[in-house]
Amino acid sequence: MHIIIAGGSGFLGTALADALVQHSHEVTVLSRQAPSELPRRTGVRYVTWTPNGEAGAWKSAIDGATAVVNLAGESIAAKRWSAAQKQRLRDSRLHATKSLTTAIRQAKQTPGVLISGSAVGYYGDRGDETLTESSAPGSDFLAGVAVEWEAAANAAAAVTRVALIRTGIVLDKRGGALPKMLPPFQMFAGGPLGSGRQYMPWIHKDDWVRLVTWSLTQEGMRGAVNATSPSPVTNAEFSKALGRALHRPSVMPAPAFALRLALGEMADALLLSGQRALPVRATDHGFAFRFTNIDEALAGVLA
Ligand SMILES: NC(=O)c1ccc[n+]([C@@H]2O[C@H](COP(=O)([O-])OP(=O)(O)OC[C@H]3O[C@@H](n4cnc5c(N)ncnc54)[C@H](OP(=O)(O)O)[C@@H]3O)[C@@H](O)[C@H]2O)c1
Repeated sequence: MHIIIAGGSGFLGTALADALVQHSHEVTVLSRQAPSELPRRTGVRYVTWTPNGEAGAWKSAIDGATAVVNLAGESIAAKRWSAAQKQRLRDSRLHATKSLTTAIRQAKQTPGVLISGSAVGYYGDRGDETLTESSAPGSDFLAGVAVEWEAAANAAAAVTRVALIRTGIVLDKRGGALPKMLPPFQMFAGGPLGSGRQYMPWIHKDDWVRLVTWSLTQEGMRGAVNATSPSPVTNAEFSKALGRALHRPSVMPAPAFALRLALGEMADALLLSGQRALPVRATDHGFAFRFTNIDEALAGVLA
């Protein structure tokens, strides 16, 4: 297969590209950066693109490809959320997705599937309500972005299969949220965030890669797909598990007001809210998660 990964230079794209190359697939990464600025990776070809809502000369890379995976977007947690930053978070996803769907619709040989990024933030903050792919969206900023992002990807649904991967908290030692959670635990100051009652829809990075790779060839995987383990845990349970994995205590709660003071709106959106999301679409179609227990997942990640 020849797979195009837009935003494939990032945390998830790198892991996905490496796994696909290992399985002898051809991988082309669309990046805003020149190939000379990117680390050389065996089996990966870089094509420079301008994700501005239009299809440029780069669209020839998409013509005839087997699949397109869309992971492009400004990092959610890299900067404090000013109004301008929120606009960037939204626009970067919408413009990149529109560029891709335009290129897909213009291709002479249409790719067989678009797997487009989305996030469990689609559901907003939902307490302990069990959430499946058919649950209604939330109403906060991230939910609004996810709704628009998915709608933009669905513009390709008239010509190809579209799967919307609602990714949860991807666990890995080197990227995503986990490395930022480790320091307080390593300094014997770890514990739950806020009330600790918010649900964390975690997924081991290997399962995320396996689920996306599997979805490339599964006709039934269309529409929304929760990329989360079948066993979400509360933040308090997660903190205890992380303490066990690191052989450190997990008794120092981080009060909500302090997190809000330090991070502003991001604290509520990323740390103090939660989703008890279940991967119903994937499990109904026969996908088997390797990591369903948080202790085993953290032991695997931190080994
Ligand atoms: N990691 C998680 O736990 C998680 C959870 C839920 C959802 N997601 C979503 O999954 C996607 C991939 O996540 P990730 O962790 O791999 O993110 P990442 O490491 O930040 O990578 C995203 C890539 O998008 C490109 N990008 C950055 N700013 C952009 C902009 N303004 N316009 C267009 N492209 C831009 C970059 O590629 P170039 O610089 O090469 O262009 C970057 O490598 C993101 O949309 C993220 O929101 C991730």
